[in-house]
Amino acid sequence: MSATTTTQGAPAASDDVRHVVEIRDLAVSFATDAGAVRAVDGVDLTVRPGEVLAVVGESGSGKTVTASTILGLLPENATTRGAVVLSNKAGTDEHDIVALSPKQLRRVRGTDVAMVFQEPSAALNPVFTIGWQITEGLRAHGAVSAKEGRARAVEILARVGIPDPEERVDHYPHQFSGGQKQRIIIAMALVLDPGLIVADEPTTALDVTVQAEILDLLRRVRDEFGTAIVLITHNMGVVADLADTVAVMYQGKVVEQAASHDLFTDPQDDYTKRLLGSVPRIGEARERTAARAAARPDGWAEAPPSSRREGSRSPTRAGSAGRGSRPSAAWT
Ligand SMILES: Nc1ncnc2c1ncn2[C@@H]1O[C@H](COP(=O)(O)OP(=O)(O)O)[C@@H](O)[C@H]1O
Ligand SMILES: [Mg+2]
Repeated sequence: MSATTTTQGAPAASDDVRHVVEIRDLAVSFATDAGAVRAVDGVDLTVRPGEVLAVVGESGSGKTVTASTILGLLPENATTRGAVVLSNKAGTDEHDIVALSPKQLRRVRGTDVAMVFQEPSAALNPVFTIGWQITEGLRAHGAVSAKEGRARAVEILARVGIPDPEERVDHYPHQFSGGQKQRIIIAMALVLDPGLIVADEPTTALDVTVQAEILDLLRRVRDEFGTAIVLITHNMGVVADLADTVAVMYQGKVVEQAASHDLFTDPQDDYTKRLLGSVPRIGEARERTAARAAARPDGWAEAPPSSRREGSRSPTRAGSAGRGSRPSAAWT
């Protein structure tokens, strides 16, 4: 494959490495009243079986559009160039999504790749039981009896952590919490055992504690089902926690793709550096306070206010706290 992105630290891309998806020179533009909008501009990305690739970058950088091409979910006003080669989980079959007909796309969706959206409520139909919705994918891709389908739905619900699945399978979406709904969406994504799940900001709509549970579940999905995950997120904590590799997008381009550890310790691209620099760190405020205190001249607390560089209302406390302690090396 062509390697126009920085692959510093990333797994070497060679022809003998299998990919669940290989995106080559992808460009997407939208026809709008105001002219063509180029949303994605020459993107190369690869994901190996069982790998978690995080896609990060500011709003509007093309993350969702890139992810949507993997499922062939772009709207009618989109023009796509390049290739998105998707393999099945066993690695015995592959398709270029860009070239498939709508009918062929429906066959690939669910079996080879499935999507988990940001807003679980919007992805569930309120008038059908969750069991019916989970088995919809099974029905669409082959004949399963009602009994088999139900058994499979119960099994998958148990695996994504829904308690009492035999009973809950007959419940409707509104009877579940937001976090449980997202578990159900993940169950729907898993029911056909795809090799790849694309999750677009899957925890953004959830409470912080629930977010952690869903990320745990995604980790288990990778470990227990061997599913590769493309995880779109703006949360660098999530990236550090879950991702094997990271692609940084800026203005429709991948400016850097690297192993997660390398990206954090040795970012190459200026935009990546700025992105990482804007992430608050726990303990940072305390370090900054200590550093300010250490930088103050002796007698600062006793000097009249006009000669102080900072207008602290608590000069005695601020003046004594951390006096003499050096800022840590990590502080910048
Ligand atoms: N259906 C559409 N029609 C026109 N422009 C679009 C459409 N969808 C996305 N875009 C534009 O494409 C660019 C990338 O969008 P998107 O991939 O959603 O960004 P993000 O990185 O926030 O997910 C943005 O400039 C957006 O306005
Ligand atoms: Mg988006």
